[in-house]
Amino acid sequence: MNTLTLIRPDDWHLHLRDGDKLACTVADSARQFQRAIIMPNLLPPITTVALAEAYRQRIIKHIPPGAKFEPLMTLYLTDNADVKEIISAAAHPSIQAVKLYPAGATTHSEFGVTKLENIYSVLSAMEEHQLPLLVHGEVTHGDIFDREAIFLDEVLTPLMKRFPNLRIVLEHISTKAAADFVKDASTYLAATITPHHLRYTRDQLLVGGLKPHYYCLPILKCAADREALIAAATSGNPKYFLGTDSAPHSIANKQSSCGCAGIYNSFAALPLYAEVFATANALDKLEGFSSFYGADFYRLPRNTETLTLIQESWEIPEQLAFGHEQVIPLGAGECLSWRLS
Ligand code: DOR
Ligand code: ZN
Repeated sequence: MNTLTLIRPDDWHLHLRDGDKLACTVADSARQFQRAIIMPNLLPPITTVALAEAYRQRIIKHIPPGAKFEPLMTLYLTDNADVKEIISAAAHPSIQAVKLYPAGATTHSEFGVTKLENIYSVLSAMEEHQLPLLVHGEVTHGDIFDREAIFLDEVLTPLMKRFPNLRIVLEHISTKAAADFVKDASTYLAATITPHHLRYTRDQLLVGGLKPHYYCLPILKCAADREALIAAATSGNPKYFLGTDSAPHSIANKQSSCGCAGIYNSFAALPLYAEVFATANALDKLEGFSSFYGADFYRLPRNTETLTLIQESWEIPEQLAFGHEQVIPLGAGECLSWRLS
C-alpha cells in the first residue's frame, strides 16, 4: 500500500466557531493538525487578551481524549484597538498574531478597521514587539473579483513601506497577482493557501446552477489564478504555507437568499491538499508546505510527531453534524484517493 508520512501539519488559518459547534470543529482539526491559528471573528469579536484566553479555554475542553491539539489565539483589530492590549498580547504565550479585517470585507468584519491610519500606533507596537499581522486582503470597493488585487496596490504596498519590519501573513490568497506579489516581496511577507482555492474555480460556484457551498471570500477565481496558486504551493518556496480558512456555516445559513461566505473543509483538509499535490506530481513538497514553513514564519518549533496518509479511495460524506445543525463539507460526495491512516 502506498503511504505518505509527514511531520504532523499545522493549520495557520482556522475558524472553529463557538458553543455547541466546537465539538465537531475541534475534533475534525485535531485529527489532522497539531496546532492551529484560531480566527477571532466571533460575535462579539475577540478583541482582548482576556477574551482570547476565555475562548481558548472553551476550545481546549473539546479536544478529544488522547488527541494533541494546541489552539494558537489571535486578536481582532478594531478602530479603537489599544496599544497596551497589543503589548500584553505579544507577551502572552497563547497569543500568536493579530487579525486585520477591513470593515465590511467579509463575515463578521463589521467591527473591523475602517481606515488604516486609525491603527498606525498599534501596528507600530506590533512591529516593535514582533507580533505578526494577519490580513484579510480585500478592499470593500470595486468588482468582487478584483478586490484582492486592488488591496495589494492600495493597502498592502503602503502598509509594508510604512512598517517594513512587521511580519505579515496575506491570508487565503486567491489570485496570481497575490501569489506573484508575495514571491517578489520581502521575507516579512508570507501567505496561506486554502484547499478550496487550490481545487476549484468560480465555475464550480456558478456553472450549472448556483452552488452556495463553494461561496467563500475571497471568492473563487479563474483557472489561471488557480494554476498560479498550485504552482506557488508546490514550489517549495517557504513564503507559502497551509491555512485552510475552514469556516463552517450551517446548511440553513448557506442555502439562503443571502447565504453566508465560508467553506467547511476541516473534515478532509489534509487528503484534499494531498490530492492537489499528487496531481501536480509534487507530493515531495507537501511536508514543507503543511508542516515546516508556517512554524518557521511564526518562529515556533517544528512539530516532531508524524501523521500518515494512505493512498486509498474513499468518499467525503454528504453532510456532517454541526452542533444541533448540519454542515456540508467541502467536496461532499467526492471521491478522494488519499485518506488519513
Ligand atoms: O469565506 C469566508 N468565511 N471568508 C472569510 O474571510 C470569513 C469566513 C467566515 O468567518 O465565515
Ligand atoms: Zn478566514
